[in-house]
Amino acid sequence: MPAFLSIFSRYLSVSVVLLSLLSGCGKPQDPQFIESEKAKGLVPEIRQAISTELAETFGTVPAPEAPLWFPIERGGIEGKIRSVKERNEQGRITRLKIKYEQDAPEVVAGDVIEIVLDPETILEAELKAAEEGRVSEAYPYKVTVGEFSKISGIITLSEPLCDLAEKGSPCIVKPNETLRTGRELYKQYCQKCHAATGDGNGPQAHMLKPKPRDLRLGVVKYTTTKTNIKASTEDLRNLLKGGIPGTAMPTFPILGNHEIDALAQYTKYLSMRGEIERGLCIESEIDFSQANLDEQLEEAETAEEKQKVTEQFQEEMQEFLKIDFPEIAFDIALDVTEKWSQADEPESKLEPSVPRPDGTGPSKAEPSISSLANGKILYLSTSAQCASCHGLTGKGDGDQVSKVQKKPDGSEYDEPGLHDVWGNVVEPRDLTYGVFHGATDPSDDIANVVFRAIAAGVKGTPMPAYGGKGLTDDQIWDLVNYIFFLAGDYKDVAPESLDVKPKAKAKAK
Ligand code: HEC
Ligand code: HEC
Repeated sequence: MPAFLSIFSRYLSVSVVLLSLLSGCGKPQDPQFIESEKAKGLVPEIRQAISTELAETFGTVPAPEAPLWFPIERGGIEGKIRSVKERNEQGRITRLKIKYEQDAPEVVAGDVIEIVLDPETILEAELKAAEEGRVSEAYPYKVTVGEFSKISGIITLSEPLCDLAEKGSPCIVKPNETLRTGRELYKQYCQKCHAATGDGNGPQAHMLKPKPRDLRLGVVKYTTTKTNIKASTEDLRNLLKGGIPGTAMPTFPILGNHEIDALAQYTKYLSMRGEIERGLCIESEIDFSQANLDEQLEEAETAEEKQKVTEQFQEEMQEFLKIDFPEIAFDIALDVTEKWSQADEPESKLEPSVPRPDGTGPSKAEPSISSLANGKILYLSTSAQCASCHGLTGKGDGDQVSKVQKKPDGSEYDEPGLHDVWGNVVEPRDLTYGVFHGATDPSDDIANVVFRAIAAGVKGTPMPAYGGKGLTDDQIWDLVNYIFFLAGDYKDVAPESLDVKPKAKAKAK
């Protein structure tokens, strides 16, 4: 049975609606999250189920929230129930006192209090209640404050809190504060390009190339993590401090660490929301796309047959929504949250090896001729194929750029050129400029940035990952050196001197 997703957030939605009604007066309306194109291809009932699941898990634009178990620092003040002052007839708490871990916050009517219950306890209670056809004693685990007495410290709740809470139960007051701060900052600094939903279609987007990122795929190109691993929280922070050199993605030097943090969390929030939506769409569209239904209806000849098709479709869909959908939603959320957590683990980081084969450290110290010559051989080799994309001289004009490429499904793209996972044409970097987009962290050594791009690839783009399988670390450093040579860094090295046969024969496996 269901998703912790909804368990963790079902009851806040009521207060969220109230809050948004209250804060809506007079001010310009906050935009709403918009549906993805994929979702629009599904039948209305499934679209509705996805949108409800997302709202229960992630809240709304003005009131973002996330389940406690998500790897998002969503904010809030931790405490414990100091004493239960009153319960109602069903055993639910109506008045209580809280003891805080840190300084007691200013609690006002409308603030949210969330009880932290063990997910298994919740699940057990929910299953039992479902069997007996009643509301689980684990609900609601989130309620709002009705009244707070500064003198006695007693909180009177605006609705009764779950039976399972007791003296000593951990709780969080004002959960999701960081996300709310993140949202405010996002609106001010990011929305014009990335749009409220994070789809990258903000009002300024049409002017930009490359386009602002569609965050909903959860793919971040420039990271310090290994191949196929998401961006670490630190990567997101550095990105916001340093921007992406060579693109419209700006730096935000005026923002303090606290603000950068909130924005990094909010970026993760929008990504996870998008990924879960996408996952739900992919799982649902197999059987419940509008096109699928229309096709079946078209094939049915008589009105009677059409009626039958509709009925069977309805039946299968209701079954899917009741049984499969909650499980799928939970599995997708688990997968997405695990991947984001993994990115923050120390072993996920790609640490360029030092020293380089010529004995120097990672900085751009002048390399040996033999390292540069090795780099050149590798760059032009048929195994590494750098030149097929980046061109013989590194100008980004290799053969592949003018070819029409195949999509993952085997069909061809409409226009020639390499494409990224967002479906846009992406140009191989012109290496002669010496501007590297992955240099988002100004304190990072530029040679490390280039090393990582070659070793781990540029995520979401055709730039392959060569580390581990194709090239050794030494070979990658040779390539790094050669790339700086292409960018004109070693002017006193005569190009002909690189055509000598290198001592150690460079060969990509
Ligand atoms: C002027 C437009 C603009 C603004 C404002 C802007 N961005 Fe971007 N952003 C971009 C562009 C363009 C890219 C894509 C660059 C590329 O594809 O290499 C991008 C990329 C990103 C990425 C993906 C990074 C990667 O390595 O894949 C993230 C995350 C991001 N922006 C977050 C933000 C956040 C958060 C804010 C606000 C603090 C913000 N952006 C403000 C234009 C903008
Ligand atoms: C299939 C085409 C393809 C091949 C093969 C390829 N690249 Fe790339 N490379 C790209 C694309 C596309 C980008 C731009 C990705 C982006 O940032 O959007 C890129 C980007 C880069 C960057 C820039 C990273 C940054 O942070 O700006 C470097 C450096 C690079 N490639 C080096 C290499 C080297 C060295 C090889 C061979 C070992 C190679 N590439 C092979 C397509 C390719």
